[in-house]
Amino acid sequence: MELKKDFVGKDFLALTDFSSEELLYMLDVADYLKAEKKAGRPIDVLKGKTLGMIFEKSSTRTRVSFETGMYYLGGYALFLSGNDSQIGRGEPIPDTARVLSRYLNGIMIRTFAHERVEELARYASIPVINGLTDLLHPCQVMADAQTIREHKGRLKGLKFAFIGDGNNMAHSLMNMGAKFGMEVAIACPSTHMPDKAIVDLAQQVAKENGGSVEICVDNIAAAAKNADILCTDAWTSMGQEEEKLQRQKDFAGYQINADLLKQAKDDALVMHCLPAYRGQEITEDVFEGPQSVIFDEAENRLYAQMAVMALTMLDK
Ligand code: CP
Ligand code: NVA
Repeated sequence: MELKKDFVGKDFLALTDFSSEELLYMLDVADYLKAEKKAGRPIDVLKGKTLGMIFEKSSTRTRVSFETGMYYLGGYALFLSGNDSQIGRGEPIPDTARVLSRYLNGIMIRTFAHERVEELARYASIPVINGLTDLLHPCQVMADAQTIREHKGRLKGLKFAFIGDGNNMAHSLMNMGAKFGMEVAIACPSTHMPDKAIVDLAQQVAKENGGSVEICVDNIAAAAKNADILCTDAWTSMGQEEEKLQRQKDFAGYQINADLLKQAKDDALVMHCLPAYRGQEITEDVFEGPQSVIFDEAENRLYAQMAVMALTMLDK
């Protein structure tokens, strides 16, 4: 597969920055890279290229999949922890962006405020990839879409139910479902609703693509009914640790369990971006059950991100 050069130099901050066709093409590239890697064929399209990975929050999947993904593409990735670099001591983002642009070919960043990623991208002359902010987690949902396509053969028209916090995952999943013409239902408590601007735009985009986005406030059963996919996320996200006890009260019942699974279609998939908290947002039996594709989803982080890196960091 000859990779298109249309994405070279672009940032990957949010799915809303790309057309449905572009995102579907990225998924095709992810599938291609997965097949090549599994066949043991070298895919060193980023030979000699370097990626800096800034982490201001913890990570297992994102760090390991970006780092090894870069290696499989023939490049090199370096880990920059917020605390051990000058970023953690307050060096301004515009300065960091311009310095790193002199050394590297791309930057992946995981941080708190989404504005930090946008500022980094504004000042960097190399592609910036969003590895999670408080607002969005776009790389995760590309892996999720790849996983759904693998198991269901399509995306369009499928009902995707998310049960939990109106957080970064809910936002990016709405963006994903909207772009791919899915029927998205988000069940969340009225105290933890998703961002209104994101919902409004997702509803508009979904409509254009023949799909829908519905927020089922305090109504888990409505979201789960006839779903093709049931998905959840931790009740307490990174940075919210002080709210943990209150959140355990607020989200009581927001759980994917055997009873809820019965509301969904018989062949529904169960998804979770991980890390998971058994007994809270998901039960052990469902997590480990036959409908769970959670580890396929985790695996596909590697290929979805390899596609993003390859396409944005290729030579013109
Ligand atoms: N799902 C996800 O982003 O996992 P990590 O926090 O381990 O990177
Ligand atoms: N919502 C979670 C996702 C973790 C991958 C968080 O932000 O911590």
